[in-house]
Amino acid sequence: MRLTVADNSAALSSEMLNCVKYDAGLCTSCTQIQVPYHEQILLKQQAAAQLLAEVAGQQGFEWLPPAKSELAGFRNKAKFVVGGRGGALTLGLVRPDGAPIDLTDCPIQDPRINSAASILLEFLNSTRLSPYSVTEKRGELKFVLVTVSPLGQLLVRFVVRSLRAVRKLAARASTLRESLPEAVTVTVNLLPEHKAVLEGEEELVLWGAELAMQLEDVTLYLLPQSFFQTNTEVAISLYQQAQEWVKQVGPRRVLDLYCGVGGFSLFLAPEAGEVQGVEISAAAVKAARKAARRQRSNARFVAADATKYALQLPPNKRPDLLVVNPPRRGIGTELADWIRESPEIEWVVYSSCNPRSLAADIARLKNFRIESARLFDMFAHTAHAEVAVLLQRQ
Ligand SMILES: C[S@@+](CC[C@H](N)C(=O)[O-])C[C@H]1O[C@@H](n2cnc3c(N)ncnc32)[C@H](O)[C@@H]1O
Repeated sequence: MRLTVADNSAALSSEMLNCVKYDAGLCTSCTQIQVPYHEQILLKQQAAAQLLAEVAGQQGFEWLPPAKSELAGFRNKAKFVVGGRGGALTLGLVRPDGAPIDLTDCPIQDPRINSAASILLEFLNSTRLSPYSVTEKRGELKFVLVTVSPLGQLLVRFVVRSLRAVRKLAARASTLRESLPEAVTVTVNLLPEHKAVLEGEEELVLWGAELAMQLEDVTLYLLPQSFFQTNTEVAISLYQQAQEWVKQVGPRRVLDLYCGVGGFSLFLAPEAGEVQGVEISAAAVKAARKAARRQRSNARFVAADATKYALQLPPNKRPDLLVVNPPRRGIGTELADWIRESPEIEWVVYSSCNPRSLAADIARLKNFRIESARLFDMFAHTAHAEVAVLLQRQ
């Protein structure tokens, strides 16, 4: 399938997002920001269509209209690197030469995150803690991670090097709580090692426990270390699309592998007889169970490795519809083989943030055909794409 990029120069101004930091060469994360939005979408869909066409062979399938993003303010999450110096900190990026770049005006972040950032900076400056320097391996403050819910509540996480910083932050916590009441949960994550990762294992709670994410009729509970889709509006479209496919199919039993805090399961539960979610993170499972309880949903959740769980299911417990939403690496050979060899599974809804591993996994599911596919633009202004497909056993 070949999609053409239409010439629509008249609409360009409303399709472009201006970013002073990009124009000045200070932040280049949004690699596609200079491409008009309609063209970004076409290019992403074209790239995904090419990968899927290779595995679909002669059989054509339907591409549903793409779920588009807002051009600005769509990211529900910010990952700020702490820079500058103690008492005069910055939140944003730190260049390899140590020069800090402020990103508290980043136009793709939800503006409520940017407003909170100035209060967070004031708070951090008041502690006199110094930023962590990667080159010198000293200092305390590494990152500030902020997530905003649709209702404007915040989950704030400080990633620091040592317990000394935890104590300093904890000692002044009440002032932050007063000046930033939207912050319903605030935690400190300990990352003592000099490693190129965003967070450590240990999370210490200053107050709160979770962030309630209201997605239409479903409320999910996001915990500090749990995965959550970064574009709330597009995530709602994704869960609704899966719901629509499930409505069309009418399955008796749904298995949702890699279920996270339960987004797919909770949207699908009203449409299916039974829904079982499986997720490796015990904390995410606890949050999913809480959401199910609050909603009186019949969805059930278990903490387990997706492949191990699937492989031990006796035939009479296998689903007729399977949802998979794995990390970038995809589902891999063992799980794909199990799906292929389980005749009970008639349908698969596969949602992926990596069209390459999606295509490779579909190639392994030889006895399934793609019915429909849809692009979900979670990551506007970048080349990243989320693609969901409905597969049917042939
Ligand atoms: C792309 S996220 C999808 C989460 C969820 N479906 C959603 O919509 O928010 C992938 C999830 O897979 C989980 N995961 C990673 N490896 C896993 C494994 N081996 N077995 C089960 N879950 C796993 C991660 O913890 C993460 O929550």
